[in-house]
Amino acid sequence: MDWGMQNRLSRIIKPETKKTVMLAVDHGYFMGPTTGLEQLDKTVNPLLPYADTLMLTRGALRYYIDPGIDVPITLRVSGGTSILNTEMLLHEGVTCSVEDAIRLNASCVAFSIMVGARYERDTILAFAEIIDEARAWGLPTLCVTAVGRDMVRDAKYMRLASRLGAELGADIVKTYYVDDFETVTESCPVPVVIAGGKKIPEREALEMARGAIDAGAAGVDMGRNIFQSEDPVAMIQAVRAVVHEGAGAGEAMELYESKKSEAAARQ
Ligand code: 5RP
Repeated sequence: MDWGMQNRLSRIIKPETKKTVMLAVDHGYFMGPTTGLEQLDKTVNPLLPYADTLMLTRGALRYYIDPGIDVPITLRVSGGTSILNTEMLLHEGVTCSVEDAIRLNASCVAFSIMVGARYERDTILAFAEIIDEARAWGLPTLCVTAVGRDMVRDAKYMRLASRLGAELGADIVKTYYVDDFETVTESCPVPVVIAGGKKIPEREALEMARGAIDAGAAGVDMGRNIFQSEDPVAMIQAVRAVVHEGAGAGEAMELYESKKSEAAARQ
């Protein structure tokens, strides 16, 4: 693998643990000012010391994030439809060039493919072009396997979408945690990370992260279950304990509660 590609990847997937805690705050690209991200900088800045990479759009990066930060950027380069357009929602195209991603010093570019959806071909071919261009500059790609509302989220589907992303040439695949998740990671030749999905109780989110790591995931690319938590800073530390330190969900929950109490006591 090219030196630059390897270097960028090792800034995201930590060589010591071969794991990553990606903080996803790219939701605005189709959801607008998502709860918790209305003032993105206020929520995200305190979380940065605990994120192995920050996943967001170029607008959020330019308008909300200080260029002096030392956190690698995973830049979302796909989009094109909003949450209001339910028919077209799964029809994304390129929204940011690889050239601009390099200008922004991105360490990775993220693109959603819509396997099984009506416009899957467009999204897959557009992603393939992004991979070609990104690879030419030693820039890794993250394949986001998006799942439509009416589509079944099971291991069979996640295996298909994840493997397809890897065969296209993605360097990391992001998917959703499902039962029999080990069959997804075992049949995908590149690291697999899980999205968190809609906000669920902290304990359940930590159990999900633990289950994914135990089933061979390389980490999480988690958003709402961190930034919509009652205490996002405590939550990201608990997620880190699961991903990087082998903590069980119970242990991580104790850490969450203690960090939350410490923060409350400081106020
Ligand atoms: C949307 C995305 C989001 O980044 C992703 O859904 C992660 O956030 P969450 O943990 O809130 O689901 O890639 O396609």
